[in-house]
Amino acid sequence: MKEIVLSGIRSTGNLHIGNYFGALRNFIRMQDENNCFFFIADLHSLTTHPDPENFHENIKTVLAEYLASGLDPEKSVIFVQSMVPEVSELYTLMNMWSYVGELERTSSFKEKVRKHPNNVNAGLLTYPVLMATDILIHKANKVPVGKDQEQHLEMARVFARRFNNMYNVEFFPEPSAYSFGTELVKIPGLDGTGKMGKSEGNGIYLADDGKTIRKKVMRAVTDSGPADADAPMSEPVQNLFTILQTVSDSEVVQFYKDKYKSGEIRYGDMKKQLADDICKVTLPIRERILEIKGNDKYLSETVKYGAEKARASASKTLAGVKEIMGFKWF
Ligand code: TYM
Repeated sequence: MKEIVLSGIRSTGNLHIGNYFGALRNFIRMQDENNCFFFIADLHSLTTHPDPENFHENIKTVLAEYLASGLDPEKSVIFVQSMVPEVSELYTLMNMWSYVGELERTSSFKEKVRKHPNNVNAGLLTYPVLMATDILIHKANKVPVGKDQEQHLEMARVFARRFNNMYNVEFFPEPSAYSFGTELVKIPGLDGTGKMGKSEGNGIYLADDGKTIRKKVMRAVTDSGPADADAPMSEPVQNLFTILQTVSDSEVVQFYKDKYKSGEIRYGDMKKQLADDICKVTLPIRERILEIKGNDKYLSETVKYGAEKARASASKTLAGVKEIMGFKWF
């Protein structure tokens, strides 16, 4: 059955392999069979007050990286969030059935407050409302995302259900977070703890060259070797195995797991293998990024074409919501 599949990425910097393996790759695999929407969340990126000088360039960079990764404008609707003004209008309406208490309890909000106490803006608080709007405005059922977005998806379901109950309608489907054939993934950073993030300085980017990737992987934090066969694996080493599991063949993973168990593992060898396997995936993408990034005409035609299609779908949903809520033309 054809599903409506939607996903997005903020335009806050180059894409890393966490974005690729967490969201993008799953989405790309679904393009042939489904109605797919993929967009650049430039409004979401405004919570961190990006420099206007770089704002547009960042969007172009992410767009080129999307296309280079395999998103196909003939198969998927590819657009920039702010080029679909219906999103901002539905967001205003959705804020009326989202409660401050539940937004304050969101883990991502609490984490932002802790990390950036001087910039706790209202956009940050209502971030999940805007994200739910992105999803519900196209009535998406499947949303390929990484593990970090699971709670946001749960909130999108709550908002959909609440609207349906409030107005006694079956209007919005309840969307679910999705990973192609597996659990939602969290790609860890190379610094030993936490997830790979755009602003954490712990990532491998799709635009990195081979030398940079090898250098970063060889420097990744490990430990001094397995203490004994039964001791739990330390977090940094577990993290390397998680990335290996994502990029390498299962025999390779098994080989290093066995070496670890027998206490014979040489982290240097494992890292070399890991760097090789990451390069196999990302270097062809890097080549295409360099090609596409300079092609302004192609980039601009792609998003204009995408925005037209996204607006057609969004305006239909928005009109439906307004009719249900009692708006009438004068
Ligand atoms: P963003 O830009 O932080 O990340 C984009 C996508 O990449 C995934 N991701 C990861 N997956 C696994 N491991 C990691 N280390 C990792 N880091 C990032 C994220 O889970 C995400 O799927 N709020 C969203 C953007 C957004 C959106 C939406 C997504 C706005 N509206 C509607 C889906 C649907 C965000 O900040 O993603």
